Amino acid sequence: MRTQVAIVGAGPSGLLLGQLLHKAGIDAVIVEQRSAQYVLGRIRAGVLEQVTVDLLEEVGVGARMRREGLPHDGFDLCFGGKRHRIDLHRLSGGRRVMVYGQTEVTHDLMDARATAGLTTIYEAADVSIHEFDGTRPKVRWRRDGHEHELECDFIAGCDGFHGVCRPSVPAGAITTYEKVYPFGWLGVLSRTPPVSHELIYSNHERGFALCSMRSHSLSRYYVQCSLDDNVEHWSDDAFWDELRRRLDPAAAQSLVTGASIEKSIAPLRSFVAEPMRFGRLFLAGDAAHIVPPTGAKGLNLAASDVRYLSRALIESYTEHSSAGLDAYSERCLRRIWKAERFSWWMTSLLHKFPDTGAFGQRLQRAELDYLAGSVAASTALAENYVGLPLEI
Ligand code: FAD
Ligand code: PHB
Repeated sequence: MRTQVAIVGAGPSGLLLGQLLHKAGIDAVIVEQRSAQYVLGRIRAGVLEQVTVDLLEEVGVGARMRREGLPHDGFDLCFGGKRHRIDLHRLSGGRRVMVYGQTEVTHDLMDARATAGLTTIYEAADVSIHEFDGTRPKVRWRRDGHEHELECDFIAGCDGFHGVCRPSVPAGAITTYEKVYPFGWLGVLSRTPPVSHELIYSNHERGFALCSMRSHSLSRYYVQCSLDDNVEHWSDDAFWDELRRRLDPAAAQSLVTGASIEKSIAPLRSFVAEPMRFGRLFLAGDAAHIVPPTGAKGLNLAASDVRYLSRALIESYTEHSSAGLDAYSERCLRRIWKAERFSWWMTSLLHKFPDTGAFGQRLQRAELDYLAGSVAASTALAENYVGLPLEI
């Protein structure tokens, strides 16, 4: 089997890259270790920046998002038992974000791929990548008891944080930077109306809480939990009680509860691998970097990476120039590090750390108070939350 670009991983970055290349007439095959159902079953991101919305429109998968997505012009910061609105629209010069689940984005991209008759190999076992430091890279896997090999010009490593591509790069060729946070997020999805029409990010002495949504009848909530916590230890009632305690009285009172339809714990981590290229292997999305979800940046960074990568690959095929490919890593990393900084800052501001102490709590409170009262401070927050502009 042969293709121009072999994409490892059918998450948002792999699927979106596949679609961008297809639109440009470049052939790509996606190799994914899980089934399509498994990929669709993972409840993750919910907030899309304008840059991501525009990209989905550009590749022709924006119709359902336009119909069913919820444009948001602001969100609330909750601290000291009160809510303070951050008016994203006003503070960012008219920009906004879109609440539309990663599951739906993935669904729309999978549908577009199927309609165009493009090849995705699901349930590929023991995926491995070879000879990407030469001119004839290969991807190999096992399926239905047979060994398969895909020859290509380039490999896009879109296989997430636990994938095979990043660890295949020789030790010493990549530098990694990591910060692991001493807590996780316990998330619940429930078929209940959201407690508020906008998101609420809450700093509370018992720990962080977030009220988000997927639609007018589907809510997504999170509470900060300890790393050794287990979902089995959290009954629905215990979750709702804990969430209520961490909200302001009006939100706590109007919270509509119901049976959870998904419950999971995610650890929080900041991570960057540099550079994002090794020979003919290009890393994109969570394969190269992780942000804690507090700033809602992970999926959006995956989208901007593959936008840069698709442009560079198109340039290489049509103009026989490697300038875009050579600049790929540096261009991505400039945006990534700014999102890393913002996500770390949001996380530090809103969570309870084991060593926060009384002094640290007062500092968090002072910073939140400053944000709520200062146009300069809240403008910086809004500018980062709606997403920094892409470099051309
Ligand atoms: P993934 O989604 O991890 O996809 C990688 C794919 O590769 C997977 O399908 C995997 O099965 C496959 N794979 C792995 N190993 C192999 C292998 N060896 N061979 C073949 N295939 C392989 N981001 C936001 O922007 N906004 C948010 O609001 C937000 N909220 C979040 C909330 C939570 C609780 C979490 C956990 C994350 C959140 N994120 C958010 C982050 C976002 O979900 C990720 O950044 C995004 O999924 C990255 O996409 P990806 O395609 O790079 O990686
Ligand atoms: C979500 O809806 O899952 C979500 C929203 C905002 C975040 C993180 C997650 O910052």
